[in-house]
Amino acid sequence: MHTFYGPFTQIVTLRGLSLRGALKDEQLEIITDGGVIYDEYGYITSVGKFQDLVLISKTQNTCYVHIDEPLVLLPGFVDCHTHACYAGTRTQDFAMRMAGKSYLDIARAGGGIMHTVRATREASLEDLTDLTYARLQRIREEGITTCEVKSGYGLTVEDELKMLQVIADLKAESSIGLDLVPTCLAAHIKPPEFESQKAYLDYLLHELLPTIRAKGLSQRVDIFVEETAFDVENARYYLTKAQEMGFDITLHADQFTPIASRLAVELNARSADHLEHSTDREIKLLANSNTVAVALPGASMGVGDKFTPARKLLDAGAILAIATDLNPGSAPMGNLRWQASILAMYEKLSTAEVFAGITFRAAFALGRQDRGTIEVGKRADFTAFKLSDYRDILYQASHQQIIDGTWVKGKVF
Ligand code: NIG
Ligand code: FE
Repeated sequence: MHTFYGPFTQIVTLRGLSLRGALKDEQLEIITDGGVIYDEYGYITSVGKFQDLVLISKTQNTCYVHIDEPLVLLPGFVDCHTHACYAGTRTQDFAMRMAGKSYLDIARAGGGIMHTVRATREASLEDLTDLTYARLQRIREEGITTCEVKSGYGLTVEDELKMLQVIADLKAESSIGLDLVPTCLAAHIKPPEFESQKAYLDYLLHELLPTIRAKGLSQRVDIFVEETAFDVENARYYLTKAQEMGFDITLHADQFTPIASRLAVELNARSADHLEHSTDREIKLLANSNTVAVALPGASMGVGDKFTPARKLLDAGAILAIATDLNPGSAPMGNLRWQASILAMYEKLSTAEVFAGITFRAAFALGRQDRGTIEVGKRADFTAFKLSDYRDILYQASHQQIIDGTWVKGKVF
């Protein structure tokens, strides 16, 4: 049985756009009075003018759902970088940063990430599940249909597995309304129990990653490369071994110091995320690679730092995605569409570049090329807005009430 929805005032398909580089709004395909049909497996079989689809639907066993209000349909949004699984709060850090303390100073004083690690270790699996579920429901309501979630606040085998189990349980929960992509960020910082970075990374390589693979808890390994976290040599060692074990890799790179995007490119990482302090040298390297440059405007705002040089990255030909980095420390605000709209205003991005950055380019960063555009063969993941003009999606970026709902593999939420 197929399902046919229409007529939509506008369908912004995002099909036919380049994976990399700058985009102009004139390149956007906007189907007015459009319709979409998908099959019982949740994959799109037709998209086009509503009237044309009426004819097609007559030749198939189709359930028709009539749209009787103005709606704009887009591919479901993809948030390709979050730390939505954690316990506790970092209210104190935020207040201190507003008053002038730096993120790195707070980390050096034993606060920061370690503060959340202590709270997350203390939380039971059930409590951590409830906290994460609530955050993910908010993310779903913001029009996201695919969401990456990292571990990284456990930093022991037991606590990292607890975090990844919470994410796996929620991924399997039918009411969640999101496709979750789990990432192991056990290499977030070196916990004080370990003498050296190498000793901790060896512990992860021998005691954690094999279990994650055996249990199928994650395909992806991330590391924070920074002065207060891991250095480049140790990161190269760890990521190379993780790749040999079959993991995809991604890096927290160039957030404060431009040292890691070179390594990301060297190792052909899926993505290099942050890049607030990347220079022209790193921009060029990323632009000549298949490593997605992920801008995290919420982290720039949350630590009061500059934005990722998104305009320069696009003009150089990089693949640019935009994500929230939702986490209790550097980026507590969430709201992908609002963050993307602010980044666009400061970095001078077109609507097409923003939409691409939170759909198919973000999906590519996660190795999920089966989604992110509305075209035949892709997943029926959509977000509908109670609007008549797609440009209002970013103009009304902080308005939650314009979101009508989402479809995840054809299931309506
Ligand atoms: O992406 N930079 C490292 N990790 C997170 C922050 C985590 C935290 O402060 O709790 C980030 O900004
Ligand atoms: Fe992050």
